[in-house]
Amino acid sequence: MSEPGSTGFAQQVIAWQLAHGRSQLPWQRTRDPYRVWLAEIMLQQTQVATVIGYYERFLQRFADVSALAATSLDEVLVLWSGLGYYGRARNLHRCAQMVVSVHGGEFPRSSEQLAQLPGIGRSTAAAIATFCFGERAAILDGNVKRVLTRVLGFEGDLSEAAHERALWARATALLPKEGIEAYTQGLMDLGASLCSMRSPRCQLCPIKRCVARRSARPEDYPVRTRKLRRTQRESWWLWLEWRSQVWLQQQPAAGVWAGLWTLPLFDSEAALRDAADVLHAPLEDLPAIKHSLTHFDWLLRLQRAVLTRKPQATWLAPGRWVAMDTRDAVALPAPLRRLLNTRAMAKH
Ligand code: ADE
Repeated sequence: MSEPGSTGFAQQVIAWQLAHGRSQLPWQRTRDPYRVWLAEIMLQQTQVATVIGYYERFLQRFADVSALAATSLDEVLVLWSGLGYYGRARNLHRCAQMVVSVHGGEFPRSSEQLAQLPGIGRSTAAAIATFCFGERAAILDGNVKRVLTRVLGFEGDLSEAAHERALWARATALLPKEGIEAYTQGLMDLGASLCSMRSPRCQLCPIKRCVARRSARPEDYPVRTRKLRRTQRESWWLWLEWRSQVWLQQQPAAGVWAGLWTLPLFDSEAALRDAADVLHAPLEDLPAIKHSLTHFDWLLRLQRAVLTRKPQATWLAPGRWVAMDTRDAVALPAPLRRLLNTRAMAKH
């Protein structure tokens, strides 16, 4: 299958990538699948600028896939803490263990086999196989969907699986015979720079025969009728403090903060007060925290009790006391880390 003008398109992407694209990112200029895989997983939902620090800390702590496989999930979560989408950390750990147990410590070399591993979808598998092994395979993450639907004038509604499949086929047909690495990186780079969601800079774009560019409204692509509907949520956080320690509970394995440690969370103020009643400590109202996630805005109302005596171990659901100055060694969600940091700074 070949697209009319596809050679021209791929050549333009490649030439632009080599002249203007990124080449100094920490996961570029290596063909080590461990390093590329780690970067691609971190980049799945997170911007480059945020990923870089996490990426370097991970590599310092876990030099290779065996080191990562041998550690505990809790340790992985500590390093992942603040990066969000914690299911990725769980899958990362499971994937490392499978690479060791099933593949003898070496990542498989084809996108097809890579896509069998936990946390590696079709697009991520293709990116790893392209950058490490030079495989010609199409990627189609959110940014690349935007670039390609615009270039092709692809009107299909991507909320529907059939249209998504059709776009995969078009993406595959556009692949160049040579230069797959620069082409793939170029699509990523265009999506992350000129071909932005809201204000694409078409004047600077190397793709002259882009359908969306010729239309007045490039922002209308991609077409997606079922849009994400954000909801509001409110929860109550109970901050229990005793001798510079806070009481933390581990969240269950599913949910937004799966496996992380947080202050006890309640659905209502009444539930919080019920639980806190037995402590006989005055509750202090602290400013609420707003936390935005992909699917909802979360208002975290905050009540704090400073205890003068150590309470009985039986009064709340299971948890543990964590000394404030050891908080860096605990897997905390970002807003709680910020809260504790602010508190610690105020004390000094
Ligand atoms: N986004 C996803 N993968 C990427 C990569 N390898 N480089 C830059 N941005 C990316």
